Amino acid sequence: MSHTIALSFEDGVTRFVSCDEGETVADAAYRSGINVPLDCRDGACGTCKSYCESGAYDAGDYIEDALTPDEAAAGHVLTCQMRPKSDCVVKIAASSALCKAGVSRFSGRLARLERLSASTIGFSIALDTGGAPAFLPGQYANLSVPGTGEVRAYSFSALPREGHVEFLVRNIPGGRMSTWLSERARVGDALTFTAPMGSFYLRPVTRRLLFLAGGTGLAPVLAMLDLLARDGLPVPAHLIYGVTADADLVLLDRLEQVAARLPHFTFATCVADPASVHPRKGYVTHHLAPEHLAGGAVDAYLCGPPAMVDAVRAHVQALGITPAAFHYERFSPGLEAKAA
Ligand SMILES: Cc1cc2nc3c(=O)[nH]c(=O)nc-3n(C[C@H](O)[C@H](O)[C@H](O)COP(=O)(O)OP(=O)(O)OC[C@H]3O[C@@H](n4cnc5c(N)ncnc54)[C@H](O)[C@@H]3O)c2cc1C
Ligand code: FES
Repeated sequence: MSHTIALSFEDGVTRFVSCDEGETVADAAYRSGINVPLDCRDGACGTCKSYCESGAYDAGDYIEDALTPDEAAAGHVLTCQMRPKSDCVVKIAASSALCKAGVSRFSGRLARLERLSASTIGFSIALDTGGAPAFLPGQYANLSVPGTGEVRAYSFSALPREGHVEFLVRNIPGGRMSTWLSERARVGDALTFTAPMGSFYLRPVTRRLLFLAGGTGLAPVLAMLDLLARDGLPVPAHLIYGVTADADLVLLDRLEQVAARLPHFTFATCVADPASVHPRKGYVTHHLAPEHLAGGAVDAYLCGPPAMVDAVRAHVQALGITPAAFHYERFSPGLEAKAA
């Protein structure tokens, strides 16, 4: 039996390795050509100290100089000693370049191209290899904009299905990728991307969840909801999905399907445009009720344009409530994703 270990590097790159029962994470990484930091291999020096974010494992043998009891209790591990007992996510305190991990490249063909509204485009890519990349729901890919030599970051908007990956993109007038998608792209066109990227992904569900999505910031939330719909949702979860104009609200049928499947999941939409005919007007913050934050006993996931993300974070801070975990991702133009 083997376990899948997600190695999450400092620069946002994630690589997945297969770890055999009884094998250490360091050995599994090296077997896959990934040189995680390592020195003594004996639990004595602490060079391989990392952080296990989720999963069960045997921590192995080591001395306190390498890993203190407090560190071990907090989830820190020595990859030269750690033997996974389940799939795990392990944060490596080094960049992917240093570990020679790089990212994986994928190529495929545009399989679906859908104008979901005047402002939003959905598309999927059928991968040439047939196999889909392993990624954690919430992570993103760097897509090459055909014919330009430029790349743009897009969050996966669904779990992979039969060798297809999906995206949800705001059509920004004059934008390079937006223009290609809205004016030139045809089903069958070749596309390439690197993935998986980012540390904005669904953590193990242990308490109430709150999702806050602005515009196409819905994309990573949809992938997270896919996973919850597949695996079940043992806690209450609420999504507030806010957009600028009525035409920006898309894929409500998909949210309704998730709500029908998961009795603990609810969602509300809102539209900022004062001329909107929507029953809930205003920003996401106007529709954030105290019960959604549960006095802080909540894991919050926030994603959207930088201004929206910053406004929501400031609003929650001003309420004097600190969510137990607050993960966010800004859809900044360019590639400098800021995730936490
Ligand atoms: C980690 C990450 C994940 C992302 N995921 C998604 C996603 O799933 N869906 C999605 O739609 N976008 C996403 N983005 C944003 C995306 O990467 C591009 O920045 C965006 O699609 C614009 O690309 P473009 O080539 O069309 O426009 P560009 O050619 O990059 O920009 C053209 C002009 O539009 C401006 N501009 C760029 N973005 C915006 C904006 N949001 N609002 C107003 N003006 C803007 C630029 O400053 C520039 O002047 C993500 C960004 C990051 C960092
Ligand atoms: S490499 Fe020295 S403790 Fe792991």
